[in-house]
Parts: sequence; structure tokens; C-alpha cells
Amino acid sequence: MPAFFVAGYDMLDEITKAGADFDRSLEGSADTRALDAVRVTYFGRKGGLIPALFSKLKDVPKEQKKEAGEALNRLRDRIQAALDEKSARLAAEELTRKDARETIDVTLPGRRPQLGSLHPITLVRQQMEAIFREMGYSVDPGPEIESDRYNFEALNFTPDHPARDTQDTFFTDVEGLLLRTHTSNVQIRAMEQWPPPVKVISCGRVYRRDEITMRRSPMFHQAEGFLVDKGIHIGHMRATLEHFVTKLFGGTPKFRLRPSFFPFTEPSAELDMSCLFCKGNGCGTCSQTGWMEILGCGMIHPQVLRNVKIDPEEWSGFAFGMGIDRVAMLKYGIPNIRTLFENDLRVLQQF
Ligand code: DAH
Repeated sequence: MPAFFVAGYDMLDEITKAGADFDRSLEGSADTRALDAVRVTYFGRKGGLIPALFSKLKDVPKEQKKEAGEALNRLRDRIQAALDEKSARLAAEELTRKDARETIDVTLPGRRPQLGSLHPITLVRQQMEAIFREMGYSVDPGPEIESDRYNFEALNFTPDHPARDTQDTFFTDVEGLLLRTHTSNVQIRAMEQWPPPVKVISCGRVYRRDEITMRRSPMFHQAEGFLVDKGIHIGHMRATLEHFVTKLFGGTPKFRLRPSFFPFTEPSAELDMSCLFCKGNGCGTCSQTGWMEILGCGMIHPQVLRNVKIDPEEWSGFAFGMGIDRVAMLKYGIPNIRTLFENDLRVLQQF
């Protein structure tokens, strides 16, 4: 008989003491890790107190065995239940604390999102389109890759016209296809698509084989507009363009029409406005003339109308074209066209 079964030893006492020890340990375990350690102390496969007590049961004197066995069963069930209950409670509390830590602090200052802004060319394009929309014009950008017919032939360019020269035009590998050299191609496309009366504004990219300089770029932007209706004369053109340019630049500029030449208009002209900067007195920007060239225009050539099967005896119209980049440079005081295409954020963020 083992030494502890001396007179006076009582298994029931040991069970009671184990229960009391457990209550203290339970009380003292503040988190699930401590609780897991308690669980190991009592139920661990090796050296767990409860299994150890069960194995002692066989040495308990017969008359005590039943009572001790029942007490041990009760103790085991009680410890089991208490551990389960407390570990569920602690786990829930820990989750709540974790949630609390991860809660969004709505008082923190926000991180400012980087806002994009519209490119100065886009701004000017939108302003131009808006002014013409107000006058009932349709907007049609037209294609940048174009056939010789729409870019030149139907616009009355003779086969040996200098603008067809390979110096100016980017040709593609496909016979007869080129990058448009101006937005005038839209005149022909629009007149073919919509029978008169018709009025269209078109803004987009155009391409010419030019060196990059302060004022030139092989890719730039043009706005083109035209109107065909009955009884249209040069007075309509002048009134429309003066209204347009005044709205675009603001103020009360003076205007003049200077004779010019374009193959697709007759007569052709250039519209000048009094210099934005010196108001006509003469300065560096206007080369002391007091005038700034703003756009090319004219009455649509009867041959161009015939080319799209419009009878010039019945219909007449005017057309105009201008550089968008140049307007953006004038409006925003940008001296170098390259600034428009470098996309330096320090520049773009100012718009
Ligand atoms: N297409 C001409 C150019 O690229 C600009 C132009 C001039 C367009 C007169 C027109 C116009 O519609 O009537 O220089």
C-alpha cells in the first residue's frame, strides 16, 4: 500500500482540496492562455491531476471507493464545465477588445486624395465646343487617320498643292491613308453624312512633319467649324466668329478680316483680333502691330459643295479653322508649346 494510504488519509479530502485549488487557479487566470495552462494541469494526458486521481481510485479502500468515485466524477464534470464556460467568455472578451482596437478613429484627419484636373487644351476645347453648342452646332471630332480624299481631294486641293508635299504630311504604310493635317476633313465627312442645313464644330489632333520648336509641334490641336444653309453670306460668318472669339477671350476686342487663301474657301480670310495684351497699342507679343492672327475662314468653295453633292446654287456656307494649342498658350500665358505636352504635374496642377 502506498505511503499516503496511512491512517487518516482520505481520498475525499484530496478531491475537495483539488476542487478548491482549481477554483483559485480559475479565478487567477485572466486570459485564454492562462486558462489553457490550467486545463493542461487538470486534464493533460501526461501528469494531468484528474487522470492521476482516477488512477489512484483503484487503491482506495472498498468502502470509500463508491463515494470517492462519484465525487471525482462530479469534480471532473465541474472543472470541465467551468473551464469551457470561462474560456468561451474570455475568448469573446478578447475579440471585443481586438475589435475595439481596430475600430476606425473618425477623428483622425483624412488622407487627401490626389485630384486630377483637366488639361489646358481640354479646357479650351470644352469652352469652344460649349460656345458653338449654344448656337446649335453639333460636335463631331472625326477620324485622325484619314484618306487622301477627305483630307485633300474633296477639299479642292490640287494634286500638286504644297500642303500635299511629303514635307508636311505623315503617310501611313497603307496606300492612300495618312494622318490628317487639319480638322477640315470633318467638313467633308459631316456634309456627306447630314444633308443641309447643317452646322458642326470639330476639335481634335492633327499632325504635320514639323520640327518641335517653341511654337510648333508635329502633333497639335485644331478646331474646325462650318455651317451650310440657304442665303448664308460673309456677314453671317463675321458675326458668328466675332461672337465666338469674344466669348472665348472675354473683353471687347476689335476685329479685322484680312484676305487670304485656302483651296476650300472662296473668298478666304484671316480673322485678327486686337492684341489681348496691349489692347491694340503694340507690344512684343503682337510684334508691335496691335493685332493677333486668330483663325482662318472663308465661304465654302462651290466646288467643295459639289464634291459632296450639295447644289451651290441652292446652298451656301462658311467655314473656319484655328489652333487650340495657340489659344491655350495665349489664354494661360504659356510661352512654349512643349509645356502643353510634357505633362509635368507641377504645371497641370495649376488648372
Ligand atoms: N485647315 C486650315 C489649316 O489647317 C485652317 C482653316 C482655314 C480651316 C480656313 C477652315 C477655313 O475651315 O475656312 O490651316
